[in-house]
Amino acid sequence: MEDLILFLGRFHVLALHLPIGILAFVAIAELYFGFRAKVSRPALINTIWLLGAISAITAAGLGYLLSLSGGYNEETLELHLIWGLITSATTLVGWIAFGIKGQRGKGWVSIIAGLQLVSLFTAGHLGGNLTHGPEYLFEHAPNPIRSLAGFAAKGAPRSPVSDLAQADVFLDVVQPLLELRCVSCHNPSKIKGGLLLDTYANIMLGGESGASVTPRNLSGSELSVRINHDPEHDDYMPSGGKTPLTAAQAQVMDWWILSGAPESGALADFGNDADIFALIAEAIAVKITVTNLDELGLPIVTPASRDVIMKLESLGFDATPVSEKSGYLDIDFYRIVDESISDEHVAALLQARDHIAWLNLGDSGLQDHQIETIAKLSNLLKLDLSKNPVTDAGIIALRSLPNLETLNLHATQITDAALTSLDKLPNLEQAFLWSTAVNPEAASKRDYAQNETGFVVIPEDDESSK
Ligand code: HEC
Repeated sequence: MEDLILFLGRFHVLALHLPIGILAFVAIAELYFGFRAKVSRPALINTIWLLGAISAITAAGLGYLLSLSGGYNEETLELHLIWGLITSATTLVGWIAFGIKGQRGKGWVSIIAGLQLVSLFTAGHLGGNLTHGPEYLFEHAPNPIRSLAGFAAKGAPRSPVSDLAQADVFLDVVQPLLELRCVSCHNPSKIKGGLLLDTYANIMLGGESGASVTPRNLSGSELSVRINHDPEHDDYMPSGGKTPLTAAQAQVMDWWILSGAPESGALADFGNDADIFALIAEAIAVKITVTNLDELGLPIVTPASRDVIMKLESLGFDATPVSEKSGYLDIDFYRIVDESISDEHVAALLQARDHIAWLNLGDSGLQDHQIETIAKLSNLLKLDLSKNPVTDAGIIALRSLPNLETLNLHATQITDAALTSLDKLPNLEQAFLWSTAVNPEAASKRDYAQNETGFVVIPEDDESSK
């Protein structure tokens, strides 16, 4: 029975368009003929009054059934119902008045038509408020019009997130997700479950079953419990088969609750965990772009796994994060006595291929052919190859390192020919070339400057070297 009522009730939303069209038409036609004394009204209008009355009463009846499902703003609902009844009644009166007075009653019928039009508009407007919320009509209105209509002026809309670290944890992350998937049923005019999810204060206020969010407690947070149910579960949210949150979005909601459900704060202040950043970026569909980088200026990465770091350390590498906040690694190699670094060692670096930003292989006995492997570490920013028997031929491979900024080649066997390779590195800012066969003059011909300590430094702002 309950199902049947709801089934019929939902037709209200469909059925109401018919009386709106008919009633508006008949009222306007009646007013038109009312003001033109000489023109007589076509008898057809009488039938249209009747059709209008029938359709208005039907829509009102269905509307009543729909109202039984609850969840609407009580006050608005009552007014909507009253004005719907007034509309139906004036229409009925219009039909009767025409029947009794015929052509002589034009003045009366015009007045009734006018009243009917006003009540139709009022009922329709209240109905719109019920389904879309009172702000619907003026949501996108310019501020002066909004204030005329009695709404607060809107603050500037939040600009799209470009830098995740600076995004606000509530306004840019949690609120947009709720707005997208939940607020349509949990707003001031449709308070399902007694719960409003439209503002921070209302979220924290909770609903019929109490707190929707208990900071740092997922099982005590009805909101978390509901979004994590099996979608088939009765309590699953969003209900009614509405588009659910994605897995990443649900995880982000949980992360927010576990972080204490803060009302505001830049994401960078919440630990700067690269995993979370990636998750949030996915949840709010922010592309990790050039403005959205690790502090090193490289794309944000999830930190290398513990296993990979252990493996490297067991081989004699020293692997540490570049900083507490970065997912990138700083790797040093210390050789034991005179043993040169082996191919196996060098190959092991590829396991952390995307994570190595700084690499120190100075004085490791590195050979030319091993540089080819090094050149696969495409996120390298700093590379130290000093005091190794490497030559111009080996250096050629480095050309494929797009991010390399600092290169130490001091005390290697390179010559002027290596400069051609360095020219190809688009981001090279500094090269240390002292104690090599590079002729300072050859370097300066390329506009490389030589500083007083004997390093050859490529000036940062020198375009010709890029
Ligand atoms: C299609 C309408 C609809 C949508 C969309 C919707 N809900 Fe609900 N929600 C309901 C209804 C109806 C209830 C009350 C019935 C119940 O408790 O299951 C409810 C109840 C709740 C409750 C329990 C309130 C209480 O205190 O009993 C929570 C929490 C909740 N919803 C969270 C959400 C979240 C989070 C979203 C978005 C992911 C969401 N809802 C989207 C209709 C909806």
